[in-house]
Amino acid sequence: MVGLGGSLRERSYSGAALRAGMAMAAELGFATETLDLRLLELPMYVPEQALADYPLECQASLRRYVSALRSADVMLWTTPAYHGAMSGVFKNAIDFMQLLAGDERPYLQGCAVGLLTLSDASPLSGMANCVQELRAWLAPTRVTLDSADFSPELTLNSASGQRRLGRLVMELRDFKASQG
Ligand SMILES: Cc1cc2nc3c(=O)[nH]c(=O)nc-3n(C[C@H](O)[C@H](O)[C@H](O)COP(=O)(O)O)c2cc1C
Repeated sequence: MVGLGGSLRERSYSGAALRAGMAMAAELGFATETLDLRLLELPMYVPEQALADYPLECQASLRRYVSALRSADVMLWTTPAYHGAMSGVFKNAIDFMQLLAGDERPYLQGCAVGLLTLSDASPLSGMANCVQELRAWLAPTRVTLDSADFSPELTLNSASGQRRLGRLVMELRDFKASQG
């Protein structure tokens, strides 16, 4: 499972939520790769620019990102609510999926995506549109957590948060199992 998200804040709840989801996935037997947007430091997407056209210092993170996307059969996307929508840094990462348009498997075709937001549910509809535009499958459970679901050390410790996120991760596992 490839996890994508977090914010640029060091004490990021969405980053902590992503880590919690990926830990649950690992417990269920998934091989996991977490793409934390604060650590990945993607540049801004420039339309019609190939990967090789981006500055040298961005090449390693871009190559890692694109390679993780190409191998993804299941993903978990996490963003905080920013002004009633997904964050800019998250949408910029989605825009880079245009680099997969000409692949034998275009975009995220055949991949299943689970959605997780922080603070409120407002980014979910836009994220779901992105999933479908990118030809991926949407997991039925969509999870919204907030800061009260976490300990001061940013551990997901609310029973309700763990139960809902666990259900989403199990749906992704069931999707993967159904693909053989
Ligand atoms: C620019 C900005 C816009 C925000 N807009 C909303 C919003 O529309 N609704 C909401 O409930 N919280 C909003 N928040 C609060 C964040 O969702 C909240 O602080 C969240 O924990 C930030 O994610 P992070 O901890 O991963 O950085 C906003 C915060 C920022 C910085």
